[in-house]
Amino acid sequence: MRDYSAPELDAGLQHFLVEQLREMLWAEKELAKALPKMARAANSPGLTQVLEAHRTETQAQVSRLEDIFSAMEQSPRSRKCEAMDGLLAEAENLIDEFAHSPVMDAALISAARKIGYYEIAGYDSLHSFARRLGHPEAADLLARTLEEEKTTADLFAALAEIEAQENTPAPDGAHHH
Ligand SMILES: [Fe+2]
Repeated sequence: MRDYSAPELDAGLQHFLVEQLREMLWAEKELAKALPKMARAANSPGLTQVLEAHRTETQAQVSRLEDIFSAMEQSPRSRKCEAMDGLLAEAENLIDEFAHSPVMDAALISAARKIGYYEIAGYDSLHSFARRLGHPEAADLLARTLEEEKTTADLFAALAEIEAQENTPAPDGAHHH
């Protein structure tokens, strides 16, 4: 194992943190652009509403990231996030493949959950790095977004559960709604 000095490590982490924030900025902006299409594709008005609300929240998270950059005295440039690009391409494919299908909502919820867990993992790491590197204001803002992402993930998990129950035949073989 190579031994790096503490300042070397901190400088490396600082660079990593800023670059990862730039990818998160790209990811949130692209997600905000993709959510209206996902909302329109949903069969149930309830899911449309949740996805629209998530878009508003995502736009607020974009602004919060810009505040984080200014708290860290960094320019709020974005950098393409290949992972979010892939997740959104997958969501797009599902919309095409399952348009006018009874499984559209289940597919949208599943796509939204993958995106949400990806964001949770990202914000969790960013929050730790910001704390460790002595950026308390950025860390607080990242903690706030992390909590929102977790609440959203719980909401989509609950929707997935309802969706699964609705599509499971009752034990006596009759359909229940
Ligand atoms: Fe987000």
